[in-house]
Formats: sequence, structure tokens, C-alpha cells
Amino acid sequence: MSDLSKIQEAATLEELEKLRVELLGRKSRIAIGFASLKELDAERRQSAAAALNSDKEALTRAISLKKKELDENEQKKAIDRERIDVSLLDFDGINGSLHPVNLAMEQIVEYFVSMNFEIKTGPLIEDEFHNFEALNMPAHHPAREMQDTFYMNDGKVLRTHTSPVQIHTMLSQKPPIQMIAAGAVFRRDFDMTHTPMFHQVEGLAVSEGSGVSFANLKHILIDFLSFFFGDYPVRFRPSFFPFTEPSAEVDMGCIFCRGKGCRMCKHTGWLEVLGCGMVDPNVFKAVGYKNVSGYAFGLGVERLATLKYKIGDLRSIYDGELDLLEQFR
Ligand code: PHE
Repeated sequence: MSDLSKIQEAATLEELEKLRVELLGRKSRIAIGFASLKELDAERRQSAAAALNSDKEALTRAISLKKKELDENEQKKAIDRERIDVSLLDFDGINGSLHPVNLAMEQIVEYFVSMNFEIKTGPLIEDEFHNFEALNMPAHHPAREMQDTFYMNDGKVLRTHTSPVQIHTMLSQKPPIQMIAAGAVFRRDFDMTHTPMFHQVEGLAVSEGSGVSFANLKHILIDFLSFFFGDYPVRFRPSFFPFTEPSAEVDMGCIFCRGKGCRMCKHTGWLEVLGCGMVDPNVFKAVGYKNVSGYAFGLGVERLATLKYKIGDLRSIYDGELDLLEQFR
């Protein structure tokens, strides 16, 4: 193989460098040729020098061309290796954010945990005992109608509220209990203010004897509302739930019109924000508790989130609208 084709054949920069030393280095044919020029007579020296020079030039040029080629290859490989996929998102520029529902849920849970409520969970698919019966809603009780239920084929239901977690908790431990349960619930409902899936936070406090009173319930809820919304008037309005007696709905001065009356508060000046009451004796009976007292409350997370963040249409928070979601960065 000629020297030039050896150069052409070099596959790596190291190979080329070896060749350069071999062909042009101190021990190369050319270097030795130059060194022995002095042994030649003037005439032959000139022609020999010219031949050596042109060989040297040709080799040098071939090596430098090859080097350029190999350098470029190496660079291409490096670029391929370190290639940045520009179609990937630049996460430095676009920070995600919590969904308003999660944001509200976190704050609600944070408050009650700080007040020493323990977090409990329960299944999304419940039997009728936990979702209804133990909560003082026997079969054919009209109250079941209030909660348009999704029934499964095997007679189980998608839980219509987080209240069954009260039952799971009371069946698995003794008082005192101070718990919250946060999670998804399901009802056959869909309009401006209802989605078939939404979230609730349930609260339950039980103690032996008459340790838990309605005053305790009022205190914790008023304090929670001022933590979550700020300073608004709060009122407890008599209401009905099968699993609490007495029961109340809690209203808060309208945050849109500050109580003057507007479309959002249906011109009453008040917004309904949660349900609560003293645990009904029939519920205690269902879980085998005797001589205890307790309160329970349930709040809708979407309801609180849409009020706090002044979102007009509840459905829009599940439409993935960036215009809305980006405001929570
Ligand atoms: N479970 C009730 C509902 O979903 C809310 C509630 C919970 C009311 C606990 C009173 C006590 O509407």
C-alpha cells in the first residue's frame, strides 16, 4: 500500500498520528533522506532534495486533509452523542402548578392536620352498609335519593360522599377519634355547579361521654373558614342529614358582593360552604359505640376552590383550560 493510501485508510485520529510519526517523524524515510543529503554531490543533492520536498509536501497535505475529515467525523459523532431533543419541553421555562382543586385540598388538609386531625382513607367503591346503612340511611330511605348514586353490577356503589370513612374508622378503632378523610366522590349530576366526580373532606371527632359538643364543632369550622378564606361572617343554619342530629349547613358572607346580594349568592348575601352536625345516635349504634359524643362535617373541595379562586363555572376546572390553570403557577 502506498503511503498516501495508508493515510487515506486511517480510521481514527490516533491511527493518523501514528502514520504521521512513521512517515514524517525523526526515523521516517523522508527524515533520514534529508539527513543523508549532505553525503551526496551537489547535482544529485538538488534533485534528491526536490523529490524529498515534494514527497514531504504531498504527505503533509494528505495528512492534514485526512485530519480535517476525521476531526469533522469526530465532531459529528459528539454532536450525535450529545444531541438535545429540542422538541422536549424546557422545564426551566415552564413550571407546572398544582390544580386549583389540589391546591385547595392541600390547604384544607394542612389546616386540620395542624389541629391534630389524623388522615384516614377509604375505598372509592363501597358497599351499601358503609355508604348508606351505617349512616342511618336504610334501604328505601328517601335520603338516598338526595345523592343520585352510581350503582355497580354487584350491588356496590361508587361512594357518594366521604362519610363512609367515618364508619371504617369507628369500626377499626376506639374513641377518642379526630380524623379527616379527603378524596373523590361520585354522583349522577352535571351542571354549572355539579360534576359527576368531585372531592370532599370529611371530618369526625368522637370522645367518650359528653366530651365533644356543638360548640367545639362551631369553633373548629369558624376557625377553619377564617384560615381558608379570610375574614367573613359565618352562620350556622339548621338543616338535615340522616347521620347527624342536630344538623347544620354553614354559610359564609358572600365573597363576591360582601353580603350585598349578587348572582353568585342568589341575592341572599350568603354562600353555602359545608354541612355538619352532631353524630346521630343511630350511627354510633351501627358501629357499636356506647356512651360517646361526636361531631362530623363534610365539605366540597371544588365548591371551596371555585369560591376562593372566584371561578364561575365549576365544569371549567376539569376542562384542562390552560388560561385558567396557568393562573395557579
Ligand atoms: N356527607 C354529607 C354530604 O355529602 C356531608 C356531611 C358530612 C354532612 C358530615 C354532615 C356531616 O352531603
